[in-house]
Order: sequence, then structure tokens, then C-alpha cells
Amino acid sequence: MSKAVDAATHAAPIYKNVLDMVFNTPMLELSQLDTGPCQLFGKLELVQPGNSVKDRIAVYMIESAEQQGLLKPGGRIIEATAGNTGIALALVAGQKGYKLTVVMPDKMSAEKISHLRAMGAEVVLTRSDVEKGHPEYYQDMAARLAAEDPSSYYINQFSNDNNPRAHYETTGPEIWRQMDGRIDAFVAGVGSGGSISGTGRYLKEQNPDIEIILADPDGSVLAPLVNEGKKIKPGSWLVEGIGEDFVPDILALEIIDKAYSVTDAEAFHTARDMLKTEGLLAGSSTGTLVHGALQYCRQQTEPKRVVTFICDSGAKYLSKMFNDFWMIDNGFIERKTYGDLRDLIARRHLDSEDFTLLQTTPIAQAIKQMQMFDVSQMAVLDDNDKVTGIIDESDVLLAVMHDSECFTRPVSDFMTRRLETVKPTASVNDLLPVFRADRIAIIADDDNFYGLITRIDLINYLRNQLPR
Ligand SMILES: Cc1ncc(COP(=O)(O)O)c(C=O)c1O
Repeated sequence: MSKAVDAATHAAPIYKNVLDMVFNTPMLELSQLDTGPCQLFGKLELVQPGNSVKDRIAVYMIESAEQQGLLKPGGRIIEATAGNTGIALALVAGQKGYKLTVVMPDKMSAEKISHLRAMGAEVVLTRSDVEKGHPEYYQDMAARLAAEDPSSYYINQFSNDNNPRAHYETTGPEIWRQMDGRIDAFVAGVGSGGSISGTGRYLKEQNPDIEIILADPDGSVLAPLVNEGKKIKPGSWLVEGIGEDFVPDILALEIIDKAYSVTDAEAFHTARDMLKTEGLLAGSSTGTLVHGALQYCRQQTEPKRVVTFICDSGAKYLSKMFNDFWMIDNGFIERKTYGDLRDLIARRHLDSEDFTLLQTTPIAQAIKQMQMFDVSQMAVLDDNDKVTGIIDESDVLLAVMHDSECFTRPVSDFMTRRLETVKPTASVNDLLPVFRADRIAIIADDDNFYGLITRIDLINYLRNQLPR
């Protein structure tokens, strides 16, 4: 009731342009998490129109390039990005009539790539397994593309002073005002280094006692550098947008007081927990930041007010860390193991994880389901839950090539009935002749059908046996 009155007296603004909605994000106290003696506040960057902290710098970097005459009307912007800077640039470029090419490492989520393409950006994907200096490293590639097109402007967020300036002039003062000057620590990550440097510098200037804390993905070179002055060989991590294999030019390393290394597993589980406890759908880097912030909070002996970023929206990662199968396939959720071939089944039938067809299902519906579930074959079951056939893409292709009327006919007319059934107690070697014959292994015994094993399932299983 009181909220309704509040809404009536303090009406939210009407904006004239989407760019007017950038900046001035709200703050949420994360009150459902165990923060020890401290209070932890999240600055909700996910409510920006591009759903990330990067909208701020896109406005600053493009407007500054315009003022300096580096960007001509209708010109092309080029940038290397983990995705969010690209989306933010696409937002600003779209409103101002510029073209945009973004170069992205290939580990980034499909949602970000689709988002960018839907906004009209050209997306160039490149390898995520190479380091700075390699011609296929995303920043080297973006610089090269820009050099090849003299009419383009390379934004280069990693060296662009307008990146930290955006945070120094907006994020820092916003946090200071929202917290009424009562803030003891600020926890952030480093992608380009812009947000921690600009915001941290502003806050330290207001009160030098404010601690600036880095939350860094395990494998990134920065946390060991901050804590021990140690240079390590970079590892790899799956969290997107933060963690570095080099020290960006704009990073104000000297203002960082302490760092926490956070594993992918800790980040993903923290983000998933936050959705359940706080109701906040935030991305993987937020998982890293909040995990680091919680460690800091719980180590304190006195009450402190701590601020971190809720950097971007978790809707960008629904196919990854919020997808249980992705978590299982990547070894982040432990499943029950049996010590037999059932451990190799990616989608377990008795746990209702798989998608199967009935013999009577029309082929058109089977095609739809194969597309929707992104599988190239499905088991066909009878009324007793026994496999009677397998239908795969080549069966479907043969059917539709020879008979355009076939779409309404049942899958039983086209499925393969030559089945390779393997008992769960058989050995991994028993799968090889099945795959050599270009078939799929149906794992079943007299009592149950347990699921299918394909070549890629065996490859994933063997990969997951390697030490990480
Ligand atoms: C997705 C994402 N990208 C990048 C960053 C870091 O930004 P910066 O480039 O300012 O270091 C963050 C969080 O701070 C983030 O969540």
C-alpha cells in the first residue's frame, strides 16, 4: 500500500530518447546473503538500456570521438569486446547513425552474439585460446581491421581515457551520493579496468580510507599481481567480461588494496544462488564480484558498508550458467555416478532429461522438436518405454527428398529399426564398433532404457576425465 502511494507521488520519468536512460542506476541492498557483520549493496548496472555497466563508457567514448572529429557522420566504429561493450556501442551508434564492427572471442555467449546482430552490428568471431600479440587475438584483430579501413575509428576501450572518465564523472559520484558518503569498501572486477579505476579514484578522493577490492577470475594475472606482486602465466576461465591476461593501460593498479581470486564454479553458483535468494538475474561476472565481496564481508570484524556492481543481466547467459545441462556438461554440477556406461549418457532418460518421440508422432513434429532441442537424432519409444527405433537427420532428409507428402506421416515409417543396444555394464571399448558403423549406442537392459550415447558424448566424457 505504502509503495503504491510512493509510486503516485514520485512518478518515474518519461524519457525522450533511450540514451537519456543511461546512468543513474539504482542500488539494492543484498539482504538475503550471509554478509557477516557487513552490509552489501549492489549497484544495478543491469537496468541500463543495454543491460550492462558498459553503456556509460559507450556514450563517453563515442561523444568524445565526435568532439575530436575522429568520427564522421555515418562512419564505422570498430571495437574488440567480450560483448557488452559491443552492445552498448551498438545502442549509441544506432541512435547516432554509425556503423559498427565488433571483434569477439569465440567463448562468449550466443545470446550476446544474437543481441549484437539483431542491433545491426557486424560480428567477427575469433579465437579465445590465444594471447595478446597473436594475430587472431581479438584486440590485435580489431586493431588490424581498423588499420585496413582508414575511414573507421577504433574505440579501443583498453587504452581509451574516456572509459575511466565515464566512471569517474558518473558511477563514482552516483555511488557516493546514494551511500550518503558512508561507504567503507568498493568491490569490482577488471575487464578493461575502466570501471574500477574511474569509480575507485573518485571514491578514494572523497575518502582515502575507502578500500578498493578486486574480484578476479581464477587464472587471471591481476589478483596475484595485486596481492603478491607476482607475474603468473595466464590460465583460462569461463566467466565473461572480466579477468585479464595482461595489464590494461588504463588500469590504476595502485589504487587496488586487495584482490580475491574466484573460480568459475564459485562465480556461477553465486549467481545462481542470487537469483533464488535475491531474485536478481545477473551475469557470470556479477557472480565473481559478489563472491569476492562476500568473502571480504565475512572476514571483517566490524560492521562495514560495501558496494559492488551488478554488472550485467543474467538473461545474456540463460544458455550457459543458468542452463543445468550446460553446468553438467562443463563439470560444474556433479551428477550421481554409477561407474558404468550410464555415466557417459548426456541426457538421462530415467531422470526425464532427454527428449523422445512416440511412433505415431508426425515427421513434421519430429523435425520441430529436433530443432527446438538442438539434437540431430531422437529415440522413438513404444508404450512400454522401450526403444523401437532411432530417427536422425539423414532419415528425415531421405523422407522429405522422396516424398513431399511425408510431413504428416508417423516417424515409425522412417525410423531406423537396426538398433545397437549396449548394456550399461559393457565397457567403453564396446562403444567403438557402434560409432565406427556410424550408429548411436542405445544404453538399455531388460528392465530399462537409460539413454543414448553419441560420439560427442564419449568425447566430452573423456575430456571431463582430464584434470582441470
Ligand atoms: C560483463 C562485464 N564486462 C566488463 C566488466 C568490467 O568492466 P571494465 O571494462 O570497466 O573493467 C564487468 C564488470 O565490472 C562486467 O560484468
